[in-house]
Order: sequence, then structure tokens, then C-alpha cells
Amino acid sequence: MTIDDQFNVPAGPYLLSHSVGCLPKGAESSLASGYVEPWANNGGDAWPTWLDTVEGFCTALGELMGSRGQDICPQTSVSAAFTAYLTSLPERGRSKIVMHENAFPTMGFVVKGLKKMGLELVLIEGDADDPGLWQRHLDQTVQTCLITHVHSNTGVVSPVKEIADLCQKHDVFSAVDVAQSIGIKPVEPNAWGVDALFGSCVKWLCGGPGAGYMWVRPGHAELLEATAIGWFSHENPFEFDIRHFRAASGARKFWGGTPSVAPYALANGSLKALSKIGFSHIREHNLRLKTVALSGFETAGLTMRPAGQSGGTLCLNLTASQADGMASKLTDENCRFDRRGNSLRLSFHIYNTQAEAKLVNNILGSVL
Ligand SMILES: Cc1ncc(COP(=O)(O)O)c(C=O)c1O
Repeated sequence: MTIDDQFNVPAGPYLLSHSVGCLPKGAESSLASGYVEPWANNGGDAWPTWLDTVEGFCTALGELMGSRGQDICPQTSVSAAFTAYLTSLPERGRSKIVMHENAFPTMGFVVKGLKKMGLELVLIEGDADDPGLWQRHLDQTVQTCLITHVHSNTGVVSPVKEIADLCQKHDVFSAVDVAQSIGIKPVEPNAWGVDALFGSCVKWLCGGPGAGYMWVRPGHAELLEATAIGWFSHENPFEFDIRHFRAASGARKFWGGTPSVAPYALANGSLKALSKIGFSHIREHNLRLKTVALSGFETAGLTMRPAGQSGGTLCLNLTASQADGMASKLTDENCRFDRRGNSLRLSFHIYNTQAEAKLVNNILGSVL
């Protein structure tokens, strides 16, 4: 089977995988076998299969991140996971939550939404990939530092391990948002030494919305008292004693009420399809196409990151007239892409071709 046969790719060059990755064809049968068919055939007796579906997702994601499935807890979104985490932290007389101003806005909104808890949002400005910048903002007033692994608007990659080490020195909790990196950059929370991680499957994992998750470092989980809980946060959900709650150990204390299954059934198919192709192969392909797209313009005065030192997306910071010209030519060619101000965002996944990268290269040449 060729790559083209394995994904549902809309007509025209699809350069929006930083927003929503294309649906793998195998994901539809995974949704059917992991969710729809057990329900149709067994009604409420579908639960054992449904729980296996979610467990299978956590195991597969854990394999991708070099972690155990049990350290991962399903969450509806990155924002939900961050909220659940912040509201579980021990009271330590520290109020600041530090993140870079280029973190995805939802993460700042989460902190603002928790101002009743006395949390204070601190947005830092400067080079997000400079550990010195983070060092200057970490002290005994900081509760948690939120690190965006890959920034969605700039493609800048944070030095997660270095920042996590600095956090540890100051007794600051470290958490990382991998929404924009998982599937296209190595994500390795244990090796980074972070305390928590939040992510989804929407973008490079091609798994659709709803299959979010939180990873918690095993030792760290013991410090956390989950507040948004439900019967699936119980060590034994089937104990059914309203007078007795005993939190599940580790990350699963964050699970909540009756779990959703469908998003994980579908995402299982996506994870399977991508891991069969090979994540390192996908990364190499992305790098190759980015290099083709930028070829000849590496020194053209663009404030653009070298292909190898950015996330999966080419973030082209252009002048207003260059951005207008490029957007109009990409639109003429039926390309799907997006634009933030004068920055055009173009992503090459495994289903994109050398010819599409060359097309971007030609259009770039015509506007520079
Ligand atoms: C870095 C990053 N974090 C978070 C999100 C979205 O978070 P949520 O799952 O809460 O919608 C995005 C979406 O574009 C993102 O790029």
C-alpha cells in the first residue's frame, strides 16, 4: 500500500498538519472495532472492550514517549489537563505560573481562570530557546513552569531538559505542552526529567480531537491531590461506596467520571498507522521536504529558523506584502495553509510530496 492509500487527504496540497492531521484510513476500522461494534453487539457489556481500547491507547502512547501506560491519564484536551494539574498542586506559598509569551494562548487562559486560587500568570519575553532566559525567571515564588516543547506560531523548540533541570534547582514544578511536537519530534518526559506533560492527538498524530492526555512522573503524582475527580479516579471504581474514596495511584487519579472511549478508539488506529510507517521515517521526510521548500533562501534575510532546529512546521516570517503575495499564490494552487499576522505556517507530513515542497519553494522564490 502506498502512503496515498493510507490517508484521507483533501484535494490540493494539504499543509495544515500543525492544525489537524489527516485521517488515516485504518482509523475508521479502529473506531468501529474499539467502540461501535462492541456497543452494537453487546450494549452495556461493551465496557470491558471499551476499557481495553483506552488502555491500549495509553500503552501505545507510552511506547512512543518511553513511558509506562499507567503513567498516562486520558483527558479531553490540553487545557483540561493543565487545569486538572494546577488545581491538584500542594499549597507551598508560591503563586507564580511561568510560561513564555508564545505559549499557546489557552495555557495562559487556564491560569487566568484559576485566579480565585491566587495563581498569578507570568509571561516571559525573549528567546524561548535560551535557558538563561528561564533561569532569570525561576525563584522560590514560582510554583510551576509551563514549557511549550514546540511553539505553534514560531516553530521554536524549547530546551526542555535544560529548563527542567533549572526548575529542579529552584524546587519549581516543571510541566510541558507537547501538542505541537508529539509525532514529529521525540517526546521523552522521563529523559527530560519533567514533572508533568499535557498533549493531544489532533495534529501530527492524526488522531482527531478528544484524545487528550496527561502524563505524570510517578514520584510526583504522590504529591498531587486531584480535585476534578469522579468514580474512575478511585483506586477501585467498582467499589461503589459513597462514603469511601481512595484515589487511584499515579496519573489515573485525574481520570474523573465515566470515561469517553470513541476518541481513543479512533486515535488507536492513527497511532498504529503512523508507527507502522515509522516515526523516525516521518521526521526524516518532514525535514527533507522543509529543506526542499527553503532551498536557496536560507540566507535570504528571512527571520526563519533552519529546517533542523524547528518543530515540524515551516513558520515563514515575511513582510506584509510578501505574506499577501505568498498567501494569494498558495491559494491559487489550492494549498491549505494558515497565516498568523505576516507569518505563514506550512506543514509537511508523510502524505506530502517532494513536488509540493518544490511548489512552495517556487512560490517563495517569486515573492522574495
Ligand atoms: C502548543 C499548543 N498547545 C495547546 C493547544 C490546544 O490545546 P487544547 O487541546 O486545550 O485545545 C494547541 C493547539 O493548537 C497548541 O498548538
